[in-house]
Amino acid sequence: MLRLGTLLLLCGSVFANELTINKIEDAAKAGQFTNIKIGNIQVPAGQTLHLKGLKAGTKIDFVGKVTFGFKQWEGPLIKIEGKGITVTGSPGHVIDCDGKRWWDGKGGNGGTTKPKFFAARLTDSSISNLNVKNLPVHGFSINSCQKLAITGVNIDVSSGDYANGAHNTDGFDVGSSSDIQIKNCNVKNQDDCLAINSGKNILFQGNTCSGGHGISIGSVGARKDNVVQGVIIKDNVVMKSTNGIRVKTVLNAVGSVSDVTFENIKLVDISKVGITVQGNYLNGGPKGEPTGGVPIRDLTIKNVYGNVLPQGTNILVWVKNASNWKWDDKITGGTKARPCQGFPNGTPKKC
Ligand SMILES: *[C@@H]1O[C@H](CO)[C@@H](O)[C@H](O)[C@H]1NC(C)=O
Repeated sequence: MLRLGTLLLLCGSVFANELTINKIEDAAKAGQFTNIKIGNIQVPAGQTLHLKGLKAGTKIDFVGKVTFGFKQWEGPLIKIEGKGITVTGSPGHVIDCDGKRWWDGKGGNGGTTKPKFFAARLTDSSISNLNVKNLPVHGFSINSCQKLAITGVNIDVSSGDYANGAHNTDGFDVGSSSDIQIKNCNVKNQDDCLAINSGKNILFQGNTCSGGHGISIGSVGARKDNVVQGVIIKDNVVMKSTNGIRVKTVLNAVGSVSDVTFENIKLVDISKVGITVQGNYLNGGPKGEPTGGVPIRDLTIKNVYGNVLPQGTNILVWVKNASNWKWDDKITGGTKARPCQGFPNGTPKKC
């Protein structure tokens, strides 16, 4: 009897500390629990599934189907804030944004106002194994985060390809954050797989990017925080994308990009440019002579290989004030000539 009593007591305390969120009102109670399950939930239009005031050590597990009502607004659809938080997804769960209700081919540049997806404001935390579908516009915003590890996240916006009008569906946007790891994720979208606008000590490894604009550092400059330092992009595949890898710094801006390595990157069927390093970015492509206020230092391109489609360009470099680059690529296939200017002294021109 004593044993049974103890067992019941134990079970009771475990259950007492578990919250299952099935409606938006439940989220307000999240701070009282350390074991949170997100079940089947329809998040009402114009509201954020917002988990805040969380205790350190809280586990949040997505177990059901999460959907969102339609409204023209900025979002985010989900926001999680805290320290020491573990966010996971259980097999069979899905977060389906049903983006086609917003898609109009204009993304974040006009037309229907589209909600951003997920604001992560996390320290000493992890996000793993989430299944995300059909982003309206930008995906994960990793801003003001420290020591955040993201692994095994699947983002699939492939149903928005071509005439279906999904645009600016960035996978991961990183800004003003440090010690960030993004590993073994799969992104099928229509914009950057990863875009780092600012931040330090960022690792992007073992990911597959398909259908979008490739892996980008930048654009850097003309924002609040304009320093990117210490980035390793390693062991990734970029396929069927307009670009492979890019570093873009903004014309007439100030800031810096330093200590950046791209290593073991496979490119498959890139339509525009395999490797781009440009210091004259201005909302779109290169715009004239670079200004050099955001110098690109200590850049290493090592074993970046694969193919660009014939109408494309293997390598585009157009920078000023660059220094200490190492460059070893094996990209073939592109035939279109594009600028090749500003390789620092000591680095042989590679395009
Ligand atoms: C080149 O970069 C340095 C910083 O490394 C900066 O002081 C200088 O102004 C830059 N030059 C130009 C032409 O912008």
